Formats: sequence, structure tokens, C-alpha cells
Amino acid sequence: MKKILVTGGLGYIGSHVVVVLQEAGFDVTIIDDFSNSSIKVLENIFLITGIKPSFFEIDLKDKVKVDTFFKANKIDGIIHFAAYKAVGESVQKPLDYYRNNLEGLLNVLESMEQYQIDNFIFSSSCSVYGQADQMPIIEKTPLKRAESPYGKTKAMGEEIISDFTKAMNKNAISLRYFNPVGSHKSYLLGDKSSGIPNNLLPYITQTASGLREQLIVFGKDYETKDGTAIRDYVDVNDIADAHVLALQYLLHKKNKDKLEFFNLGSGTGSTVLEIIEAFERANNLKIPYTISNRREGDIQEAYADFSKAKEKLHWQPKTSLEISMKTAWEFEKKLKENEFKIPNH
Ligand code: UD1
Repeated sequence: MKKILVTGGLGYIGSHVVVVLQEAGFDVTIIDDFSNSSIKVLENIFLITGIKPSFFEIDLKDKVKVDTFFKANKIDGIIHFAAYKAVGESVQKPLDYYRNNLEGLLNVLESMEQYQIDNFIFSSSCSVYGQADQMPIIEKTPLKRAESPYGKTKAMGEEIISDFTKAMNKNAISLRYFNPVGSHKSYLLGDKSSGIPNNLLPYITQTASGLREQLIVFGKDYETKDGTAIRDYVDVNDIADAHVLALQYLLHKKNKDKLEFFNLGSGTGSTVLEIIEAFERANNLKIPYTISNRREGDIQEAYADFSKAKEKLHWQPKTSLEISMKTAWEFEKKLKENEFKIPNH
């Protein structure tokens, strides 16, 4: 049984990936420092799969603890999620973001070198493309300079991994997620960030549940069909499946390059107003909203061409937007019932 380390395995995407890895027969170990997650997620993973993953509370900046972990645990592959992800906060606290996201990554890569671990999957973002000149975005679309320190840590992370894999003869995949939405079908895992949500869907679900008075739509003067910005919303369960396929691809040595990049998106662009409408229709609810100015750093349009992932990983998104909207809402309702609180960091 291959032993896979998932850093940040209690987070939104990480937790879904842990479940599908366990279901695919991998022996999963999680490292997380609870900076944007809760121990409750570990219990919920157990409720879903009946398997308790090994768990270590480690801050990846703590080189000694990281080293002690790798000395004691034989690992066949690493999926690295652990990172801060709030774009606005990263502008306020750039050094926290550079230190956390890059130092954590460097410590993990150093351990790969020291303990002969060959396979690495990086949790990247479509933010590395910035406002691309052409839609849909393919992996060869030229990268633009990221706006926020958060985005820069993803772009720099890819550069670091590229140099590292070449120099040390390691194999890596960088998965560039577009906009992950939805929750696990058990409604036990989902997008629960601490504080005020930055992303659209948790903001919508919190407005629907009465936690927020209204949604603010950032900008209606974009050159799009209804004036609001276009993104590619892709279900988190589909994203999770891609990690298992990417891991198998590396373990079976199917990769041609030391570092390969894959877009993970639905292939469809939706405006903010279309998402509100889809949520309302799927759940038979009304979302109160107002229009305000554009959010700084936002781009007009981004949606993916996922044909590379389809061809090489045999991945394609299976979940409709309607289902994602339903599961996102069911998760929010369950959170409210269970008073599932996550401490702020
Ligand atoms: C953001 C990050 C991106 C990160 C991704 C996933 C930026 C510039 N980019 O993407 O780097 O990888 O999250 O975490 O922040 N919107 C509203 N009202 C809201 C919230 C959002 O109108 O209250 C709009 C936004 O303007 C945008 C769309 O909804 O047009 C999606 O926003 P969001 O969910 O924050 O994702 P991105 O900005 O695409």
C-alpha cells in the first residue's frame, strides 16, 4: 500500500483529496497546523471512509519537526496543499504569506531530497495566468505577473519546484485549479474558511443562511454578457479525483517532463450573476445582492481548456453546476445545525 502524505489535508480541497485517496486504496497521512481548519474535519473523514488517517499537527515552517516526521515515516508521494490562501490578507501581510507558503514548501522539498521521495503534487492556481489574452486558457498560455503576494507564492512555488525537480531528478505535477465549488456528497466536508469569506460561493451560502445581509457583486462594467466577471467554477469532488489520477500517473512513471502542469476547470465560463441565478434555481432561494465597484486585483475573465488533463490523466469534470450549488448549500445548512466552528488564525 503506497503511503501518501497530504499536507494541509484538513482544508477544503485537501480533505476531499484524502477521502478519494483512501477510497482508491492509498495509506494517507495528514500534516496540518489548524491555521484554517479544524480537528472536526479529521473525524468527518473517518465518518465518510471508516479509515482514520494518520495525523500530525505540524507547522511546516518548523524544520526540526518536519525532519523528525520524515525520519520516522516512509512516504511514497506528497500532495502539498498547506498554504495560506486569502488574497486580500496576503496584500496586508505579505511577509506572512511568503514565509508560510514558501518556507513550508522549501522544507518539504528538502525532505524529499534527504529521504528519497520521488513524487510531488503541488496545489497551484489559475491565478498564475493573470488576465490571459486568450480564452480558454491552456497550460501553454503565457503566465502574467500575479497581482497579490498569495498569487506570487503560487507562481514562485512552481518555479522552485521546476528547478528542484530538474536538479534532483524528482517528478512533480502542478495542478492549476480554477474556482473550486461544492461540497462532499455527505455534506461533512466543504468550504469553511475562518472569518469573512473571500470567495464567491461561501459568501453566497452565508448570505442564504442569514449570516450575511447581502452579497456584494464586485463590478458590473466588465466587457461580458451581463457586465459581471467570468470564472470557471469546477466541483471540488472532480478536482479531488484529478489528484488520484495525477498521483497514479507519477507512480506509473507516465510523465515525460520532470514537472508537468494541468488545468483543472469545467471548461465553462460563468458570470457572477449566472452563478447567483444557478444557486437560486438549484435551491429555490433568493439571494439579496447589490452591485459595487470592481474588487482590486480582479480580472475580467478566466476559464480553462482542460484537454491536457483529459488526454494525459484521463480526467474530466463530471459534476454539474446545479449539483455543486446544491451540495454547497447543504453543507452550509449542516454547518449551521452543528455549529461547526473553526478558530481564526
Ligand atoms: C480567487 C483568487 C485566486 C484564488 C481563488 C481560489 C483573486 C484575485 N484571486 O479567485 O488567486 O486561487 O480565489 O481561492 O482574489 N465576487 C463577488 N462578490 C464576492 C466575492 C466574489 O462579486 O463577495 C466575484 C469576484 O469579483 C469574481 C468572482 O466572484 O469575479 C469569483 O471570486 P472568488 O471566488 O473570490 O475567486 P477569484 O477571484 O476568481
